[in-house]
Amino acid sequence: MQDGFKPGAGTVVVTGAASGIGRAIARRLSLAGAPRTVLLDRDGAGAARAAEAIGPHARAMGVDVRDPAAIEAAVARIEEDGPISLWCSNAGVHRGQGLGEASDWDASLAVNLHAHLHAARAVLPRMVRRGTGHFVITASAAGLLADPRCAPYSVSKHAAVALAEWLAIAHGGDGVTIACLCPEGVRTAMTAADSAALGTEVLEPEAVADSLLEGLAEGRFLILPHSRTAEYERRRATDRGRWIAGMRRARQRAAGAAPLHAAG
Ligand SMILES: NC(=O)c1ccc[n+]([C@@H]2O[C@H](COP(=O)([O-])OP(=O)(O)OC[C@H]3O[C@@H](n4cnc5c(N)ncnc54)[C@H](O)[C@@H]3O)[C@@H](O)[C@H]2O)c1
Repeated sequence: MQDGFKPGAGTVVVTGAASGIGRAIARRLSLAGAPRTVLLDRDGAGAARAAEAIGPHARAMGVDVRDPAAIEAAVARIEEDGPISLWCSNAGVHRGQGLGEASDWDASLAVNLHAHLHAARAVLPRMVRRGTGHFVITASAAGLLADPRCAPYSVSKHAAVALAEWLAIAHGGDGVTIACLCPEGVRTAMTAADSAALGTEVLEPEAVADSLLEGLAEGRFLILPHSRTAEYERRRATDRGRWIAGMRRARQRAAGAAPLHAAG
């Protein structure tokens, strides 16, 4: 386990922290010494249970990340106790099959893209003014490669990666670190109903949290917990036509049940 990243004296905030990867990140940051950890989730009761398990320096807030006013208010409330040093914009949803319905697109874009934008608008100006801070977006390997079974997830995660890149370009000189966490299959509630979604290299949420802290310690923008993702991305970039043909074959072989983040 990498102990290099120190959260510092400020507050760390993790969205989607009632379960899965967000809960593991909140716990890991607390273990790394965060003096105050805020677990934010629309499932306020779940976030409260997770905060209680972490300890007295952790607290929960029931917030829907799709609501920009609620995010703005949460940030203001949290900063009454001290500056936010790290914001992990992690909440996400996986909705729809194939091309999906209109409601799948609305839900996916609202949580997997717009919520990151609301958080960036609320948090980043404060970090930029102070000249310090970390802002992390949990996207997915599907945002670098593809989720062949679900267009709304694939496209919204690509957009999340693009937003993270844009923020990193814009704020690179401001003392603020932007990072983008892109796991493949992770054993959480999101993938519980569909084991085909996990692919072959399945990680536990705790391993993803460790990988995030390692990446932050090394100052990396793209944090890839799975060993093969970078090579898959390289292959995709090198020959897009070949990559699409490989993905098509994988999709056909699996009769529509190809691994969630398969790269061919
Ligand atoms: N599990 C995987 O295989 C996997 C792989 C790559 C990326 N991810 C991403 O990791 C992140 C965490 O996913 P997870 O696997 O831990 O899933 P999860 O379902 O266990 O956790 C997601 C959490 O987000 C919360 N959430 C959803 N919508 C919200 C909203 N509108 N407001 C506030 N909270 C909301 C849920 O209540 C839940 O606690 C997501 O962005 C997901 O897309 C997951």
